Amino acid sequence: MARVQRGYRCSGCGWETPAYLGRCSRCGEWNTLVAYAESARQAGVASSGLRPRAAPIPLSAAGEDDGSRLASGIPELDRVLGGGLVPGSLVLAGGEPGIGKSTLMLQMAGSFAAAGLRVVYICGEESPRQVRMRAARLGLGAAAVDLLAETDLDAALEASLGVAPAVAIVDSVQSMRVEGIESRAGGPAQLAEAGARLVTWAKANDVATVLTGHVTKGGEIAGPRLLEHLVDVVLYFEGSPHTGLRVLRAVKNRYGATDEVGVFEMTGEGLRSVENASAAFLDLDSEGARASGCAVTAVMEGSRPLAVEVQALAIPSALAAPRRIATGLETSRLHVLLAVLAQRAGLDTSARDIVLAISGGLRVRDPAADLAVVLAVASALGDVPLGRDTAYLGEVALSGAVRPAGQAQRRLAELARLGFARCVAARGTTPVEGMAVVPVATISEAVATLQAHDDVRLGRAR
Ligand code: TYD
Ligand code: MG
Repeated sequence: MARVQRGYRCSGCGWETPAYLGRCSRCGEWNTLVAYAESARQAGVASSGLRPRAAPIPLSAAGEDDGSRLASGIPELDRVLGGGLVPGSLVLAGGEPGIGKSTLMLQMAGSFAAAGLRVVYICGEESPRQVRMRAARLGLGAAAVDLLAETDLDAALEASLGVAPAVAIVDSVQSMRVEGIESRAGGPAQLAEAGARLVTWAKANDVATVLTGHVTKGGEIAGPRLLEHLVDVVLYFEGSPHTGLRVLRAVKNRYGATDEVGVFEMTGEGLRSVENASAAFLDLDSEGARASGCAVTAVMEGSRPLAVEVQALAIPSALAAPRRIATGLETSRLHVLLAVLAQRAGLDTSARDIVLAISGGLRVRDPAADLAVVLAVASALGDVPLGRDTAYLGEVALSGAVRPAGQAQRRLAELARLGFARCVAARGTTPVEGMAVVPVATISEAVATLQAHDDVRLGRAR
């Protein structure tokens, strides 16, 4: 390949410029610009002998999806993957440090190995001894998994081929170094290059490859986000450190639906698939009356409804701009719903700090939870508990109108199964067996269903 002088690239952030500069204009680092002659990706592919040779073929002659999947045998994982891993595909499993990525990877490796598949576990972060100790804890001490302690990506991939694996795990992609890229391991330039090489390697060798990647709380920091467009499947692991519940979410899946979630519980013996997921996030056993500020709803996660409790506190605030703290719900959505509550139902929260959380650490994105949020806040304002057997379902418009939730029947059926007898929901929602619907057109009507509605009004006046 002819060497063509292209320009200079920042070894920190990957920014490119035709002229040399002392300081990178994007990331602001000094002396990080390095001359490059040809695309490092092409160079890397050529050097590993994997240069793809492709000729155009008619669409109709392209290989069909033969549906072959490597099922892990871990029910909640297979569910999110759409049946299992596809040979030759690249999967990114992201999540905050400590959420359980390595634990899931090791359990998956053990499961595949038990099914007779060759699995290579490339540990760039932990020593084989540490991995072995974790495996012992998971009851997988004797699993036939090949460990490879290597942080040089090319070397790791080459060594892996020696055992002809069906599945390879790279834990984590940030710990891998690519030769020839002048940037720290895990830096954007390194990650992008590592991702590109892994895609080529996985496809060329037909190895189902899973990478773990750390993301910070917001998930924005460069890191694995950079890889999302390269890989076939992106899974994110989320959950609250205070509960054992973990949710595995597919945000991209070239081989299946992206709205499925897997629910796990972190136990002393690793992650356990939670079958009765819909009740997992609810604390139905709590004694006595439900506290004020708690409203139950059902959110759809993929094809299944999950019952969750929205919990709110409304405390007198000493601040000119009272606090709005939301965990598990977008703070901006809370702001909107508080504004609607003030203008359309006359419940003013401008002198209160509002704290809102979703039970079980779930992140709720389903607008059908709006009504439960509104009622939880109204109930907290007046310190009036909502009925224990009542759930709330509906989207709230800026006009204060309550709109029907999609798939209402499935949600109601699930709530009925969990012992709820009534659901305050948008007008036109059809009841299901064992579940009466209290139809409301607006949030004012919904707030009026509170038993001690006047107390809520009093709360406002307080
Ligand atoms: P880990 O898989 O190392 O997280 P990640 O790879 O995402 O950083 O999991 C770390 C946490 O899980 C740690 O706090 C200990 C806990 N854990 C258990 O509770 N039970 C177990 O069986 C294992 C292996 C870990
Ligand atoms: Mg880990």
